[in-house]
Amino acid sequence: MLALSEFLVALILFFLIAHFLKLQWAGRRLPPGPTPLPVIGNLWLLNFHIHHDQFIQLAKTYGNVFTVWLGQRPVIVLNGYRTVKDALVSHSEELTGRPTFPLQLATSGSKGIITSNGHIWKQQRRFGLMTLRNLGLGKRSLEERIQEEAQQLVEVFSAERGRPIDPLPFIVNAVANVICSVVFGHRFSIDDDVFHQLIEATAFLINARKHAWSRIYDLFPWLMERIPGPHKMLFHHWKQLRSYIKQEIRSHREHMTSEPQDLIDFYLNQISKTKGDPFSTYDEENMIQVVHDLFLAGSETTTTTLRWAVLYMVKYPEIQEKVQKELDAVLGSSHIICYEDRKRLPYTNAVIHEVQRYGNIVPVGVPRLCVKQTTLQEFPINKGTIVLPNLSSVLYDPEHWETPRRFNPSHFLDKEGNFVSKEAFIPFSAGQRVCLGEQLARTELFIFFTNLFRAFTFQLPAGTTRINSDIIVAATIQPHPYKICAIQRL
Ligand code: HEM
Ligand SMILES: *[C@@H]1O[C@H](CO)[C@@H](O)[C@H](O)[C@H]1NC(C)=O
Repeated sequence: MLALSEFLVALILFFLIAHFLKLQWAGRRLPPGPTPLPVIGNLWLLNFHIHHDQFIQLAKTYGNVFTVWLGQRPVIVLNGYRTVKDALVSHSEELTGRPTFPLQLATSGSKGIITSNGHIWKQQRRFGLMTLRNLGLGKRSLEERIQEEAQQLVEVFSAERGRPIDPLPFIVNAVANVICSVVFGHRFSIDDDVFHQLIEATAFLINARKHAWSRIYDLFPWLMERIPGPHKMLFHHWKQLRSYIKQEIRSHREHMTSEPQDLIDFYLNQISKTKGDPFSTYDEENMIQVVHDLFLAGSETTTTTLRWAVLYMVKYPEIQEKVQKELDAVLGSSHIICYEDRKRLPYTNAVIHEVQRYGNIVPVGVPRLCVKQTTLQEFPINKGTIVLPNLSSVLYDPEHWETPRRFNPSHFLDKEGNFVSKEAFIPFSAGQRVCLGEQLARTELFIFFTNLFRAFTFQLPAGTTRINSDIIVAATIQPHPYKICAIQRL
């Protein structure tokens, strides 16, 4: 008996040591980094979070290109403007891939846009971009839909009559409705139950990655498949979202008009047009995933940015006042604000850019996969290696920003107060896999922000002296829930 247990212990030890040596061997050609442990790699060091501050120390110790091990897979982390831009822009082609992880394979698979690769990715992405462009050209252009949503947003705030409120549900409602208009061709009212289910499901799916269980799933998928736990909720929400999208597709099929009105219409046309083409990837599964991807990528990011915008304006009332002065001087109260107006509003435009820079809501971007052998800062990078471009190291690069860790709209203004764009402003990433919704997001941020601050002064409720600007690390960097009062100005 004793002999057997001794034998087992020896066997496990042997495995761990063999694995340790294997990782050492595999790491010999990789950029430097901390020593990985068998099985879990450097996960102990990340505290299960890739955003952890311990990374600053790593960059200091090992330089702007270093390796950490996520379980058994090496991840090359890039830091600083020069390194990140060189990778994303000059090596764009070689870094267009996305790594796949077990949890994601069990849900979205390798379909759609965000997590797809190769030919599927190229076709679906091109289609997504083309459709956004087409929807902007129609009779009810995308910009008009955003303007209508902004109007609604001002109305719901107004109805609160300055009471202390958490702006989150109002903002989610407006932002998610823009995406609903794009993909489904209609908006939801704020008290629609289906809408709330969709938003709840989306939030759950997006925030899943902040939990340790999602990392554990990626390490031990076989085991996690077979035991109960919170990861089962993820599958539940995922199915819920899919079944709603399928229902929308069904009703679009039944009510096809000659002019496509939304993304699903365009997609159904595309499927008919490419029938018989052996290289076509336009099918129902990819359509569901594209809708799902746009919904996920397009709702939480813009919502979170607007929540930071309101929070910073409450925290820095003198900046809010300057924005309002500019809005009052340039726009009338009844003028319908369009994206073009940003050119007449340099200060306001600078503030919105600074909200995105300082807010830094997607700090380490979305992981890339090297699809072709390349060299980054003299390190050879093999096909199949995961690369993580640290966007915050660019948005906070001390060589490119005067006061990187202070909210300062002057980062985007010259001495005469004209707006200046900055090379190191990459909240949407860069290169061929840059955020597909960048144009849409910029238009939304501008139109929502200007409408809100033209109509209201946002301030702390009576008796509250401080707003909590600490961060919550989820899939995006989020503020803690807060309450403010929207005081009508006009
Ligand atoms: C403030 C708002 C937003 C921010 C900060 C943001 C940021 C990002 C970032 C950093 C990426 C990763 C790019 C890379 O791989 O390097 C990304 C990808 C993506 N975003 Fe956005 N995004 C925003 C809004 C939107 C909106 C409104 C949409 C919807 C139309 C959208 C759709 C996408 C899609 C589909 C991808 C995947 C692109 C691909 O893999 O080819 N995003 N976004
Ligand atoms: C990314 O850069 C920021 C700012 O320099 C730093 O705080 C963070 O630790 C870095 N993260 C990684 C993964 O290198």
